[in-house]
Amino acid sequence: MSTNREIHLASRPQGWPTADNFRLVETEVPTPGPGQLVVRNRFMSVDPYMRGRMNDVKSYVPPFALDAPLDGGAVGEVVAGDAEGFAPGDVVLHGLGWREYALVDAKGARKVDPDLAPVSAYLSVLGMTGLTAYAGLLDVAAMKPGETVFVSGAAGAVGSMVGQIAKLRGAARVVGSAGSPAKVERLRALGFDAAFDYHDGPVRDQLRAAAPDGVDVYFDNVGGEHLEAAIGAMNLHGRAAICGMIAQYNATEPPAAPRNLALLIGKRLTLRGFLVGDHGHLREQFVKEMAGWLRDGRISYDETVVDGIERAPEAFLGMLRGENLGKMLVRL
Ligand SMILES: NC(=O)c1ccc[n+]([C@@H]2O[C@H](COP(=O)([O-])OP(=O)(O)OC[C@H]3O[C@@H](n4cnc5c(N)ncnc54)[C@H](OP(=O)(O)O)[C@@H]3O)[C@@H](O)[C@H]2O)c1
Repeated sequence: MSTNREIHLASRPQGWPTADNFRLVETEVPTPGPGQLVVRNRFMSVDPYMRGRMNDVKSYVPPFALDAPLDGGAVGEVVAGDAEGFAPGDVVLHGLGWREYALVDAKGARKVDPDLAPVSAYLSVLGMTGLTAYAGLLDVAAMKPGETVFVSGAAGAVGSMVGQIAKLRGAARVVGSAGSPAKVERLRALGFDAAFDYHDGPVRDQLRAAAPDGVDVYFDNVGGEHLEAAIGAMNLHGRAAICGMIAQYNATEPPAAPRNLALLIGKRLTLRGFLVGDHGHLREQFVKEMAGWLRDGRISYDETVVDGIERAPEAFLGMLRGENLGKMLVRL
């Protein structure tokens, strides 16, 4: 091993990113210092929030630097380093994806069990996206058995978990929206009671038909027209977990919707934004419950895998365009 390849941010996108915003760069494989590990990454996560970090604006995470590697969740094998508690061959989860070899501070690495699940699962169903769904639905929106749940971006990594967890935890009706007929079909196979393609007509009309008795919990991955429709459909004391607003991540103008926020008053609605990082206290409970559902075959998860670090920008752009079913990953 001598050469490492990594993806740098070459320029900041204006609106939709393109392949020109990224650059494949060759470097030397790093040498570990005290307390450090060199990890040969096997899978890396491709996440919507990265789009926000490509803008040079103040946010809850600092922007990516130009001409420096991007980063994000990754899982790989320790190949060098003698940090206490780790040995070559260990499989670890850490935050330095977008490169083939990562120099990781051992404090930022967590060992995972490759015998419990395929290693990619630690970036999807058993990882950050699974926990986001679990925490947002059960903690932030406090879903109760017997309620009706609507989730947008429902065929994606987070959304597909939200719908299934809702059913497993006793939701009376689960409705999902997604961007293609194939995705809608997949949602039905996953046990959603109703699903629609948001390209087929106004979200408001399709949601009303899919949830005629209204919505108690809305899990928002999309924002804009979806959020406006959900507010319109929500029942008294409804709660929305505001997880993401992907419809506006590439927008150059402020969103036109929601225009109906005044409904929050009469309906006594709660709209609550959240970040999964604030819900680490649920991780143990989540992993235990999710591992049980997986073992019993009660939950399914999809992964869309793109091969090769050189194709990571393509995977990212594809995810923004909706080319993924479930979690978008790059195999390195
Ligand atoms: N708050 C947190 O801590 C947290 C953590 C993780 C993720 N998130 C957020 O959760 C959401 C889902 O993330 P994910 O990782 O699970 O991604 P994902 O849903 O697997 O992938 C993104 C999906 O968004 C959909 N999409 C893209 N543009 C859209 C548009 N204009 N309108 C409607 N749908 C659109 C596409 O599916 P279609 O084919 O259906 O359009 C695409 O597949 C994102 O908003 C993300 O930022 C938040």
